[in-house]
Amino acid sequence: MAENEIAPYAAPAPARYRTVHLQQAKDEGRRFAMLTAYDFQMAQIFDEAGLETILVGDSAANNVMGHATTLPITMDEMIVFAGSVVRGTRRAMVLADLPFGSYELSAQQATESAIRLVKEAGVHAVKMEGGERYAEHVGMMTDAGVPVMAHIGFTPQSENVLGGYRVQGRGGDAAESMIHEATVLQDAGAFAVLMEMVPADIARRVDEALHVPTVGIGAGGATTGQVLVWQDMLGLRAGKMPRFVKQYADLRSEVSQAVTAYRRDVLEGTFPAPEHGFES
Ligand code: KIV
Repeated sequence: MAENEIAPYAAPAPARYRTVHLQQAKDEGRRFAMLTAYDFQMAQIFDEAGLETILVGDSAANNVMGHATTLPITMDEMIVFAGSVVRGTRRAMVLADLPFGSYELSAQQATESAIRLVKEAGVHAVKMEGGERYAEHVGMMTDAGVPVMAHIGFTPQSENVLGGYRVQGRGGDAAESMIHEATVLQDAGAFAVLMEMVPADIARRVDEALHVPTVGIGAGGATTGQVLVWQDMLGLRAGKMPRFVKQYADLRSEVSQAVTAYRRDVLEGTFPAPEHGFES
């Protein structure tokens, strides 16, 4: 879709999206879009397409490195992925996840990790999984100059405690406690709150309770922003797609067809043709 087609829903693009622009979106009833990216070229394509925000998710562990969970990825690996993404962008705001093991022990540990992501990779903000118990961490990182997006609801780094991939915030006083957690994180300094796999009505109530923007993945349509993993959204990943994913392309089939055609051409001797060679 051309930029002018979405103009009624988008403010003029700034030189670089910052937290202030995401806050303006919330204040003015607009939305923003986010995708994950893990490398230079996809980041460049997403940036040129006008994406406001790019997340260097710790989901690189699954989607790039082939691990079964997000748990094994290290700070050093996140810094390599995040730096590659930052170098591919001009306008998008780039956030990176604090990986498992890089922040849980103390606010100081979190701040040291966040500073490494800013200093060594050049990200503009970090995202951290976890609720109220991390309020002090959010405060210290923010005071140190690193904007923090809090991530609540289903938090994949805690999947062993949460009992696998499950919708969060159902039943009992779950909605109230989610609103409480989100508010505490906002008050601690989080510039935004991301909700993963949260019932749409509860995510709406959280969004209404907060003055900062919210971002959703599997959390309905009331959040200020939406995020998807790019390999899901563009159909590169094999296997069953989560219910909350809308697939906009089928890259897995396209790539497979292209590689099959290339191999056939090589085996048949039709590639390279004369035009692909050099004269002496
Ligand atoms: O790592 C990730 O991909 C995430 C999601 C919210 C998209 O944290």
